[in-house]
Amino acid sequence: MQFTFAANSNIMNILLLGSGGREHALAWKIAQSYHCNQLYIAPGNPGTAQCGININIGITDFESIYNFCLQNSIDILVVGPEEPLVKGIYDYMAETGWKGFVVGPSKEAAQLEGSKAFSKKFMQRHHIPTAAYAEFTKENFEEGKQYIAQHSLPVVLKADGLAAGKGVVISNTHEDALRVFEEMIIHQQFGEASSKVVIEEFLNGIEVSVFALTNGRDYQIIGHAKDYKRIGEGDTGLNTGGMGCVTPVPFMDEVFMQKVEEKIVKPTVNGLAKENLIYNGFIFFGLMNINGEPYVIEYNCRMGDPETEVVMPRLYTDIVGLFAAMDNGTLADANISYNEGSYATVMAVSGGYPGEYKKDYGIEGLTNTATYKHSIVFHAGTKQNGDEIVTNGGRVLTVTSQGNSLQEAVATSKEILQQISFEGMYFRKDIGYEFE
Ligand code: AMP
Ligand code: GLY
Repeated sequence: MQFTFAANSNIMNILLLGSGGREHALAWKIAQSYHCNQLYIAPGNPGTAQCGININIGITDFESIYNFCLQNSIDILVVGPEEPLVKGIYDYMAETGWKGFVVGPSKEAAQLEGSKAFSKKFMQRHHIPTAAYAEFTKENFEEGKQYIAQHSLPVVLKADGLAAGKGVVISNTHEDALRVFEEMIIHQQFGEASSKVVIEEFLNGIEVSVFALTNGRDYQIIGHAKDYKRIGEGDTGLNTGGMGCVTPVPFMDEVFMQKVEEKIVKPTVNGLAKENLIYNGFIFFGLMNINGEPYVIEYNCRMGDPETEVVMPRLYTDIVGLFAAMDNGTLADANISYNEGSYATVMAVSGGYPGEYKKDYGIEGLTNTATYKHSIVFHAGTKQNGDEIVTNGGRVLTVTSQGNSLQEAVATSKEILQQISFEGMYFRKDIGYEFE
């Protein structure tokens, strides 16, 4: 696939944290930057090893990360997943006096993802369109039961804290909602994460994702995508981390994106500035499109997975140049441009996922990312085992392709997936089906 180059040659050493498909896509993009001298990935995967040097440090081992940054003259630390952000890696690095630049929000600002109650209050303060809600704890549990009993159906219950993507329940009956509410608050189903519960209105629309980079004052929208979350074709079955993505999305046209920018992105960034929340990173707007009107379902303080696997290939602008612009105050002037065509990614998962599945199966038919003219194989849950690459997670790898249409891109990805195999491999054949 096409490589992008920036005009100026200010080169930097970069450490990227994480080990999934999102990180392979970020590493792939960063490694192409004319600003990038040496890229390291901690801990990375066999895919990221094609883009830089993997180092064996865990994503929440802040002390080792700091020491590595000092010893290897790292200029930019890019944080892929939310966990280190919510645990305060930004603040840790700042407190050490480290001179480099962290791409990620402060611990306080990461609460936009880390606490549903925090993000709902933030949206309310800044008049950002979202579902009506109330929050409850053990203290007002009885009140919560009454709130549920008179709530319209379906009703949405959300554990306040991070619950590995399982903390949201959509109930179709009051009885079910009351049972879930009790499980969360009284039986602490998600531990501390569900000691507070947000109860909100069900938004009926089409879910989409929008991505921006911000330094808490300025921002640039860097892409958007539609994710296919259900395991089964026709959007059936259990929720997953994401089975595929497409971009650009036909109905996310200029009119819709203008609304997203004016009603959601701008008030969010202005809200961060007004409240002096330190934010230097990606912001992921999880949106519901209701008859052409965007509402926020959630904020994430990171990129999406597998959204990154289509957003990065489509983005023409040099990503490291954008990180530098965030740091030196020129982000508002940056020029965002996109590569031509449509992009789709189709995820291959382990048999049984998102339930129980086995690991360590050999993967046949893998080739280097540079092999295909219009496609890239991004590694997600893979591991090097001697000479062999084996499965190491539920979502194993994803094939992103560029095409003249979404259909062409999806068809190319499926063709490549036919050449790759591992025991129990499954992928959805209908990514982008509604745009045919
Ligand atoms: P969250 O963890 O907030 O992203 O929620 C997980 C998923 O639940 C979302 O991706 C949506 O598909 C769904 N969801 C969350 N909140 C709502 C809502 N208010 N109305 C409809 N669906 C929702
Ligand atoms: N694909 C959705 C997410 O990354 O949260």
